[in-house]
Amino acid sequence: MKPVKLGICGLGTVASGAVNILKRNAESIAGRAGCSIEVIQVGSRRLKDNCDLAGVDFTTDVFDVVCNPEVDVVIELIGGYDVAKELVLKAIENGKHVVTANKALIAVHGNEIFAAAAEKNVTVAYEAAVAGGIPIIKALREGMAANKINWLAGIINGTGNFILTEMKDKGRDFADVLKEAQDLGYAEADPTFDVEGIDAAHKLTIMASAAFGVPLQFDSAYTEGISQLSTADVEYAEELGYRIKHLGITRLHKDGFELRVHPTLVPEKQLLAKVDGVMNSVLVDGDAVGQTLYYGAGAGSEATASAVIADVVDIARAINVDAGVMVPYLGFSPEKITDLSVLPIDEIVSAYYLRILASDHSGVLAKVASILSEQGINIESVMQKESELQDGKIPMIMLTHEVKEKNINVAIEQIEALSEIEGKVVRIRVEHLSS
Ligand code: HSE
Repeated sequence: MKPVKLGICGLGTVASGAVNILKRNAESIAGRAGCSIEVIQVGSRRLKDNCDLAGVDFTTDVFDVVCNPEVDVVIELIGGYDVAKELVLKAIENGKHVVTANKALIAVHGNEIFAAAAEKNVTVAYEAAVAGGIPIIKALREGMAANKINWLAGIINGTGNFILTEMKDKGRDFADVLKEAQDLGYAEADPTFDVEGIDAAHKLTIMASAAFGVPLQFDSAYTEGISQLSTADVEYAEELGYRIKHLGITRLHKDGFELRVHPTLVPEKQLLAKVDGVMNSVLVDGDAVGQTLYYGAGAGSEATASAVIADVVDIARAINVDAGVMVPYLGFSPEKITDLSVLPIDEIVSAYYLRILASDHSGVLAKVASILSEQGINIESVMQKESELQDGKIPMIMLTHEVKEKNINVAIEQIEALSEIEGKVVRIRVEHLSS
């Protein structure tokens, strides 16, 4: 079989991982692909020390790569939205297949890019864009093909999970851990993407579309970050038998689907609660198989490159037969994509953790309970410790049963208006993740 020739755009952490794996495992990768795979050109502003590019053409203009007539598959690893979009559309126009690790690009411009690729009968593969080395796109599009996927929930930002783990285990300060995550190369160029949940929302948008067969709708995702979380809430959650995890959750309903990223209390017995450090994990609930859990490195050089190369192998196999045999972009035939919208966050149903700073007077708990009851909210537990009484105020920690988000919001507004309550009520959603 004819060798498949790659052109790589961007020479950062993932690209150097890909070059190194392709060299080290050349024989077994060729055995799987049915042909040899050769990197023939790399485009990047600068060279990298830990990457042997002997015999590979190097250019400082990434557009040289997408216009190189010898390149069969373009690997887009420059990241970002605008130049990456232009580059990928140009590659498609030139009849090249594309492999990308760019979650922002697919979540925001994926609908347009997939349509352009379909017109040219080329493939855009994006396994590496979601959860690093975990083959979650393959699982959703192929492994779960028999199922109606009901929901999925995942820890899909390694930086955020690393920060939460260090806060819980070592009581470390948020800013200090973030700095370490940046030094270790986990964080995005703009780390607010990690800590404010934007990166996770990109990945969740992509998974939701592959799970439910709906268009990509990143703009409608609800996103809440971890920057406002305090060590106190992490510790209270632990006392109550929960862990706080930054989860992406998507759930299918008849009239739409949920698409939300936020800190969440997860029961400590749940496997997801035990996923620590930079690791990622996704729990998927299908109507036939039940729950399946995927776990692995969500970031890092060779871990992410592993997913890039798996896509290259799929394309190489297809090129030598017929590119038209590739799995459809979102796992469903394009004419079967359902025009379902994201539900407003007010409509979701969840249990809640509340932390309320209250005056230590008799009757305050009764007033709070009465407001909750008027909104149809049942209290599951209340925790208050005399030892935490300070200046006549004491934190009241509550867990509620499930209720619509709009009802809890009304109740919180009324609780905050009570003269015995100080400051804002801390509200964190609780998910039990049962089928
Ligand atoms: N900044 C991302 C993370 C990198 O921490 O998960 C992998 O997408």
